[in-house]
This record gives sequence, structure tokens and C-alpha cells, in this order.
Amino acid sequence: MPHTDWAIEAKNLTKSYGSVEVLKGISLRVERGTMLALLGPNGAGKTTTVRILSTLLKFDGGTATIEGYDVQSAADDVRSVIGLTGQSAAVDELLTGRENLVMMGRLYRLTKASATARAEELLGEFDLVKAADRPAKTYSGGMRRRLDLAVSLIATPPVIFLDEPTTGLDPRSRLAMWEIIKKLMAAGTTILLTTQYLEEADQLADKIVVIDGGKVIAEGTAAELKSKVGKDRLELTFSNAKMLDQAVKVLGNRVADSSDKALSVTIVIQDNNEDIRTTLEVLAAAKLNISEMAIHKPTLDDVFLSLTGKQKSDVSQRIKETK
Ligand SMILES: Nc1ncnc2c1ncn2[C@@H]1O[C@H](COP(=O)(O)OP(=O)(O)O)[C@@H](O)[C@H]1O
Ligand SMILES: [Mg+2]
Repeated sequence: MPHTDWAIEAKNLTKSYGSVEVLKGISLRVERGTMLALLGPNGAGKTTTVRILSTLLKFDGGTATIEGYDVQSAADDVRSVIGLTGQSAAVDELLTGRENLVMMGRLYRLTKASATARAEELLGEFDLVKAADRPAKTYSGGMRRRLDLAVSLIATPPVIFLDEPTTGLDPRSRLAMWEIIKKLMAAGTTILLTTQYLEEADQLADKIVVIDGGKVIAEGTAAELKSKVGKDRLELTFSNAKMLDQAVKVLGNRVADSSDKALSVTIVIQDNNEDIRTTLEVLAAAKLNISEMAIHKPTLDDVFLSLTGKQKSDVSQRIKETK
């Protein structure tokens, strides 16, 4: 295996369909043993990027390597170190879960005995033992995704691509999938996960690359991205309008927002808890009683909104913040 610090490295990938350029120079790097989330709305170019990196799709410009192997000139080597799962999965509907796994094991040139043993192991890990001998077409959405992921892991690849593994899953299956993904991460697998869900990227990924319209529009850790959109805000609620008025006067130009209806005032917190403490002291000295207090942290939704001017996530996917 050629030596490189990056398990996945793409430089300036471009791809057009006819006259439509769907990737306009995508660059990304994934450190070995970490997870990168490629976050973007429908049509952003996530699947196209994953298909290029996994040697399934030709591209027009740029370069890409997986574990140091060039995806064009060393495609066979690349395929030997990757697992791919998601929208383009290769589960055979007519075969049982177990048969699917054994068949894929044989494709990866495992002996019959080790393919069978590995299949048994994965059926256990993915909670598919009871359904093992039923055709895949009888599986629920969540079971199918788990089988899909299990199939891609038959040969324990060091690098795995997960293309929207939880899209369309009910919340319980999504959580179950997250647990499986966390186990993969704990085992040291390098993962590139694509998702439309901000919450998912926030929960799972070490780093996030946000793409929109075939371009990288932001990247960093979830915390870095959130810090770009601003600081934490402190919202203070008072028990009557008179107190609110006084508080607004006392806080002066620190007031970022106030609501007569909610009887609340919002200020931007400067750096640390010290600022919260002194603010509360100032209000206490003016004999203003706070009935409720909340700290609002910027969410990845805010990042999306400020970067694209568009709200990308479903309301149901909004990141839950301390209210
Ligand atoms: N085979 C194709 N022919 C023409 N356009 C395509 C093809 N595949 C994808 N596209 C277009 O490329 C863009 C990116 O698609 P895709 O990579 O699937 O996005 P994502 O996975 O982020 O939803 C979309 O506008 C899509 O319509
Ligand atoms: Mg896609």
C-alpha cells in the first residue's frame, strides 16, 4: 500500500453530464480512521462524488486517491480497500439475507467456509439472525439498509463509503444505523458518509464538508462551522413589561433583540461565562427578576442558512438545542 496520511484524497474533481457541470472542482481529504460527512441538499453532487471515489464513474478533471491508490490508474487496488453502500447497493431481492452475504463473500474471493462464517458474524452484528433465511424482498426498510451495510462489510474494508445510509428511515431505524456506524468508527474504519441531515453530520462526523451545486461551500468540524455563524446568545425572560423595559435600558446597546410578547431580551454572549455572570449581576443590582433564562447556540441549520440563503433541513431534522 503506498504511503499517505490521507485515506481519501480528492483534488479539484470535475464532472459534467452533457453541458451540465454537476461537480465544479470538489476537493476533500479524509484522515485515516476518521469520518468525513459530505453534507448537502438533494442534487448537490454527493452521489456523483462517491461514485467517482469508488471507481464506478468516470470524471473529467482532477485527481483522487484512496489509501494512496489512484482511482483511475489503480482502480483494482482501490476496489480492494473499499466498501460501498447506499443508494446504489447490490442486494439481491430474491436471495435471503444469508445468501446475499455469502454470495458477496464469494465475490470477494473468500473461501466458502470463511464466507459462511463471516456471514453468520454479520447477521448477528446487524440484528438479522431471525430474518436470515427470508428473501430480502420481505425485509422492512431498516432491515434492508442493515443488510446493505452488512454486505458491504463482508471483506472488512479499511475504507467505507456510506451514501445516505439513513435517508427515509424511521427515527428508530436511524438510531440503530447510527449505532452500527459508531461501531465501524470505533473499529478504526475510515468513513465517508453523505447526508442531507445536519443533525447526522453533527452527531457522527469528525469533519464536515458542505457542498451545494457541485461546489464546496464550507468545511470544518461541526463546532468550527457553528462558530462561523456567530456566538452564543443569552435570552432572558421577565415577569412583566415594566421589568422588561427597565432591563432593555440597563443593558443598553448590548440588546440584540427584544420581544414585548415573550417579555424577553436577547444579548450576544462575549466569549465566556464571566460575561453571563456580570450581566446577571447588573440586572440583579437593578432589582430585575429573571423568570427564565436560555442560552442559544448556533446550529448547523444556521450555518446552512447563512451559507446558502436556503433552509435545507426538514423541520423534524432540526438540531435539538438546549431550550
Ligand atoms: N446520469 C446522469 N445524467 C444527468 N445528470 C445527472 C446524472 N446523475 C446525476 N445527475 C445530476 O447531477 C447532479 C448531482 O447529482 P447527485 O450526485 O446524485 O446529487 P446528490 O447525491 O447530492 O443528491 C443532479 O443535478 C443530478 O440531476
Ligand atoms: Mg445522492
